[in-house]
Amino acid sequence: MSSINSLILEKRLFEPSEKFKNQANINAQTYAALCEEARDDYEGYWSRLAKIFLEWKKPFSQTLDKSNAPFYKWFADGEINASYNCIDRHIDQNGDKTAIIFESDDGKVTSISYRTLLSKVSQFANSLKSAGLKTGDRVIIYLPMSIEAVVAMQACARLGLIHSVVFGGFSAKSLQERIHDATAKMIITSDGQMRGGKALPLKPAVDEALKLGGCESVSKVVVYKRTSLQTEMNSIDVWWDDFIEGQSDTCEPVWVNSEHPLFLLYTSGSTGTPKGVQHSTGGYLLQVALSMLWTFDIKDSDIFWCTADVGWITGHSYVAYGPLAVGATQVIFEGIPTYPDAGRFWDMIERHQVSIFYTAPTAIRSLIKLGADLPNKYDLSSLRLLGSVGEPINPEAWMWFYETVGKCLCPIVDTWWQTETGAHMLTPIPGATSLKPGSCCKAFPGIQLAIVDEAGNQLKNGEGGVLVIQKPWPSMIRTIWNNPQRYQSGYFPPDYQGAYLAGDGAVKDEDGYFWIMGRIDDVLNVSGHRLGTMEIESALVANKLVAEAAVVGKPHEIKGESVVAFVVLKQALPDLSDAIGNETAKKVINELRDWVGKEIGPIAKPDEIRLCENLPKTRSGKIMRRLLRSIARGEEITADISTLDNPHIIQQLSQVIK
Ligand code: PRX
Repeated sequence: MSSINSLILEKRLFEPSEKFKNQANINAQTYAALCEEARDDYEGYWSRLAKIFLEWKKPFSQTLDKSNAPFYKWFADGEINASYNCIDRHIDQNGDKTAIIFESDDGKVTSISYRTLLSKVSQFANSLKSAGLKTGDRVIIYLPMSIEAVVAMQACARLGLIHSVVFGGFSAKSLQERIHDATAKMIITSDGQMRGGKALPLKPAVDEALKLGGCESVSKVVVYKRTSLQTEMNSIDVWWDDFIEGQSDTCEPVWVNSEHPLFLLYTSGSTGTPKGVQHSTGGYLLQVALSMLWTFDIKDSDIFWCTADVGWITGHSYVAYGPLAVGATQVIFEGIPTYPDAGRFWDMIERHQVSIFYTAPTAIRSLIKLGADLPNKYDLSSLRLLGSVGEPINPEAWMWFYETVGKCLCPIVDTWWQTETGAHMLTPIPGATSLKPGSCCKAFPGIQLAIVDEAGNQLKNGEGGVLVIQKPWPSMIRTIWNNPQRYQSGYFPPDYQGAYLAGDGAVKDEDGYFWIMGRIDDVLNVSGHRLGTMEIESALVANKLVAEAAVVGKPHEIKGESVVAFVVLKQALPDLSDAIGNETAKKVINELRDWVGKEIGPIAKPDEIRLCENLPKTRSGKIMRRLLRSIARGEEITADISTLDNPHIIQQLSQVIK
C-alpha cells in the first residue's frame, strides 16, 4: 500500500482542452449518457452498440446468455465474420485508403491500401483452404512484426480458423507447449527476424519444437522469407511465396456464429503452465472497435501507431483487429526503439505524421534514460493523443510523456486491461475525463468495476482491495482452452459473488479514480510482459543442477519489475568466500539463466540468481515468499520469522554474486 498511498498524494489534474473537447468523439455529456444507459439497461446498451458498430450476416436475437454462467455468451445466434468487418466493409467507400504503413528495421517503408490488404488476405485464405484447413482448426503464428503477420491472422479469421500467435521471443520449448495444447494443424513462421540491424533466426525454433514431440497434429509449416539466413526446409515445410502461388485473390468469408473462437492467446497465470485464453468473434470485435473510437478518439484522418508486438494481446486488439475494424490508417514497426538510435520512435512519428501514439511505460522510461531531450529534436506536432498500457505508469514518466512528447497538448490515456478482458476496462475518455498522472481513471462506459475485500464486500474509496469486474462484458475471455475448470475457479472463485477476479490490487480515491497497485497473485510484470513465478520456477527445477527454486519480483527502474530467483543446488553450495568457489557459482548462475532463456524465452531470464543451501520455510513446509520478496528488495526484515524452520539462512539469501 505504501507506494499506492504516495501515488494518491498526486493531486495534479489535467482537464481536456477546449480544442480537444470540441472535436472529441465522446464529450462529457455523451460519456455520462452512455454510462447511464448501461446502468439502466445493460443488455440493451450492448445490443444497440453491436448493431451500430458491427456488420452482421445474420442479426442476433439474444444479447447475453447467462444460463451457463460464468460461461457467458454474447450475441450467440448472430452470424458474423471478423475479417469482413475489418476489411471488406471499408472497400466501397475507402478501398484506396492506406491500411498499413509498415516500417522495417532498416527503415524501408511499405504502405498498403485496404484493397491490397483484402487481396493479400483472400489469397492467403485460399491457400489455407487448399491446404485442407477447416473452420475451427488451430493455426500457430510465430512471425515477427510484419504485414504478413496481420495477413495471416486476418486470413485465419476469414475462414473461422482459430489462430494462436506465439511471440517471437518465446523459446522452442514454449512454442512446443502451445502447439501441443492447441493441437495445431499448421505453423506459420519466418526464416528469421530483423532486429537492431541483425538477422535473428526463427524457423530453427519451430524445427526444434516439432522434434520435442507432442506436435503430431502439425501437417504443414509455412515459412515467410524475411532474411538472408540459410534455412533448412523439411518435407512438411513450404515457402510463403510457393504456398500462395496461383491462388485467387478473392475469397468469400466464412460466416461463423458470434461465439466462435476468434483466437487463443497463451498467457501466464499463477500455476506452472500457461493458459490458452479463448476469445470470441462478435463480442471481442465490438469492444476493440468501440475502444478505438472512444478511448483513442480515432478519426478518418488519424495515423495511429501502437508499438506492441502481435504476440501480445495489445498487438491483437490494437494492431491486428481494432484499427482495421474502424477503417483506420496505422503504422506497424518491425524494429526496436533504440536502433539506429534512441530517437527512432520520435523520428518515425515525425516522418509518418503519427497522430495517436500508444506504447508501454517501460519503453517510455528507457527512452527517458537514453535521451530525455531527444524528442525536442523532432517535429512531433502531428501528435494529438498519447496512450500507455501494460503496467502502472509512474507520475514522473507520465509527466515527461505529457510535456516532452505531447508538448502539454495531448491527453494521455492510461489504459488498464488484460489478455482476458480483450479491450480497455479502465481508461480516461480523452474528451471527457480530467487526467491524474499515474491513474487509469475510470471505467470504460458500460464496464462495471469495483474494489472489494477478500469476502467480496465492496470497499470504501481510499481502501485498497481486490479489483473485480461485476458484470460480464462482450470482449471477455470465454474459457481456457482445454481447461474450463481452471477458467471457472481462477476467474470466478466462489467468494466474489459471481464477479470476475482480475488478479490486481487497486484503490479508488475520493474522486472515484482507480489506482492499480499491481498483481495480487504470483504473476510478475516485467517490461509489460506477464510472467508467472511458478513458470520460471518449474523451468529452473527442470535443470539437472537444481533441487529447488523460488522466484519473486523486485521493483526495477525501467522494467517495472525484475526477476529474482533463489536456487538450491543438488550439489554442495560453492564456497562464496573463496575465489574458485565464486567463479563456480558464477558459471552455474550463467548456465541457469541461459537455461531459463531456452525453456521459456529470453524475456523470462532471471536478472538475479541467488544460490542458497535452503529456502526459508515455515514449519509446515511452505516457502515464505513474502520474506523472500523483502530480502530480494534489500528491505529490513520486519516479518515475523519465528515460524521459520531455518532462520540462519537469511544472511545467505541476501548475498548477491557479482
Ligand atoms: O497487472 C495489470 C497490468 O498488466 C496485467 C495484464 O497483463 P497482460 O494480460 O499481459 O496484458 C497487458 C496489456 C493489456 C494487468 O493485470 N496492467 C495492464 N495495463 C495496466 C496495468 N497495470 C497498471 N496500469 C495499466 N494501464
